[in-house]
Amino acid sequence: MRTLTGITPSGTVHIGNYFGAMRPAIEAQAQGDCFYFIADYHSMTSVTDPQERRDNTRGIAVDWLACGLDPGKSVFWRQSDVPEVCELTWLIGSLTPMGLLERAHGYKDKTSKGISPNFGLFAYPVLMAADILLYDTNAVPVGQDQKQHLEMTRDIAVKFNQTYGETFVVPVPVIRRDCASVPGLDGQKMSKSYGNTLEIFGDEKALRKKVMSIVMDSRTPAEPKPDADRNICIQLLKLLAPSDVAADHEARLRAGGLGYGDLKKALFEHFWTFFAPARARRAELMSDPGYVDQVLKEGAARARSVAAVVIKRARRAAGLD
Ligand code: TRP
Repeated sequence: MRTLTGITPSGTVHIGNYFGAMRPAIEAQAQGDCFYFIADYHSMTSVTDPQERRDNTRGIAVDWLACGLDPGKSVFWRQSDVPEVCELTWLIGSLTPMGLLERAHGYKDKTSKGISPNFGLFAYPVLMAADILLYDTNAVPVGQDQKQHLEMTRDIAVKFNQTYGETFVVPVPVIRRDCASVPGLDGQKMSKSYGNTLEIFGDEKALRKKVMSIVMDSRTPAEPKPDADRNICIQLLKLLAPSDVAADHEARLRAGGLGYGDLKKALFEHFWTFFAPARARRAELMSDPGYVDQVLKEGAARARSVAAVVIKRARRAAGLD
């Protein structure tokens, strides 16, 4: 049973990414056969600065390794180190109906915002299908926003199998519980586009300030707060602090007597402690760039050996060999 997922190399990781995507992926390593890659080809539709792409790719690799991705257990590589994925994109793209791509939410959202679409944006779901089919993937854990892309992948795999004979494993989406369970600092879902994130690896002073500026209501500390479970700090504390500590704060807030300032201070301290091991590991990784390069290189070699078998099978089926 092979699990695969792609990681978008977006600047900085926040605790919404951590609880929504990183921690489940890291925990899944215990079940074995996990394939994780950094989707740098996909980033070409949004980033056009080469140095930014390099920095983001390396940065996200370091962040995931620091948070517990174990290259001894998982295959971890950079998408563009296995260029066979582009060949497969062509093979399956030639069977992908225009209508299917025109219905893609990602494409529709971007064009409706006035972004003038290019071939890459239009073909994004085909490249994503190739990412998945190239490795005989069984399960793909993704957020709700990627569900449609997975359905397209399945359609494409079935169409290829019907046209050229059994070639691809038809993958099953595993839709992750939405990271809506991680509230942003303003109470909306935590998301970079809302500017309400708490970065995992930011500067201590700046992050403390961010936490201390979370907006609360004007009730006095002494007032009982029967809605304590809906307080953002309590919700975050439940993720970041030991459960008895979170429960104790919730009870004190509900009863009255716990001020918002003290609550925020506690939240910051638990946040900081929670990620202390990852921060230490990240500092080590940053001081040894050769190690990260080596990890990605070895991962690419392992991924490529799987890809070679599948692309050969697809080429043969399609009469290219
Ligand atoms: N499009 C995905 C996202 O934005 C990233 C991705 C690229 C991906 N290729 C993939 C996810 C293959 C799962 C499988 O999150």
